[in-house]
Amino acid sequence: MMVALPRAKKRIRPLVKDDVTTVMQWSHDPELQQLTGRRFASEMDGTLWWHAVERDRTRLAMAILDDNGRLIGDVELENVAWRAGEAELRIAIGEKSCWNRGYGTEALSEMAQIAFDQLHLHSLYLRVSERNLRAIRSYYKAGFRKVARLSATGRLQGGEPLVLMRRTSADVEDTP
Ligand SMILES: CC(C)(COP(=O)(O)OP(=O)(O)OC[C@H]1O[C@@H](n2cnc3c(N)ncnc32)[C@H](O)[C@@H]1OP(=O)(O)O)[C@@H](O)C(=O)NCCC(=O)NCCS
Repeated sequence: MMVALPRAKKRIRPLVKDDVTTVMQWSHDPELQQLTGRRFASEMDGTLWWHAVERDRTRLAMAILDDNGRLIGDVELENVAWRAGEAELRIAIGEKSCWNRGYGTEALSEMAQIAFDQLHLHSLYLRVSERNLRAIRSYYKAGFRKVARLSATGRLQGGEPLVLMRRTSADVEDTP
């Protein structure tokens, strides 16, 4: 957890312990597992994940809300390198009925605002499967640009090439 939790915005707010059960349930979905590489095998895994998020100064997890304030996903900063001013970003909307409604782009955009304005980071990067066109489009709309093509490693294994995308605090979003 960061020194001070960021303020809530319209689409995202700090994740709390009560959210963990819902986040864990999403991770049982095979399609989400494949797209995100995340899977909690047991309740213990979810609890350990929460403790890591809560204590680790290099992580920040925010809940994504729909227009009614319902929890629909989470967006996280990981590997925050305070001196270098950069962090890795990951996102998952677990409620699949909420895909393609603009929520993901808004959540990414608000997370970038928090990272740059409240945490004073300069650069965010992420890795995404080259085949995940919805995610790539959403990242693009939120101001991220492709910087490299990587061979698949780690949690997104499966032989698919990954794309590295980055947004710096100087970049603007692709929205009117
Ligand atoms: C990726 C994710 C966060 C995006 O959030 P979202 O709310 O669904 O995305 P948005 O509605 O903001 O934007 C999606 C864009 O992709 C487009 N899109 C959807 N399916 C597409 C496809 N197969 N090919 C190309 N574009 C596609 C949409 O039309 C929209 O673009 P537009 O506004 O220009 O029309 C969300 O879909 C998600 O969590 N998916 C599952 C987990 C995942 O893939 N996470 C990323 C892992 S790196």
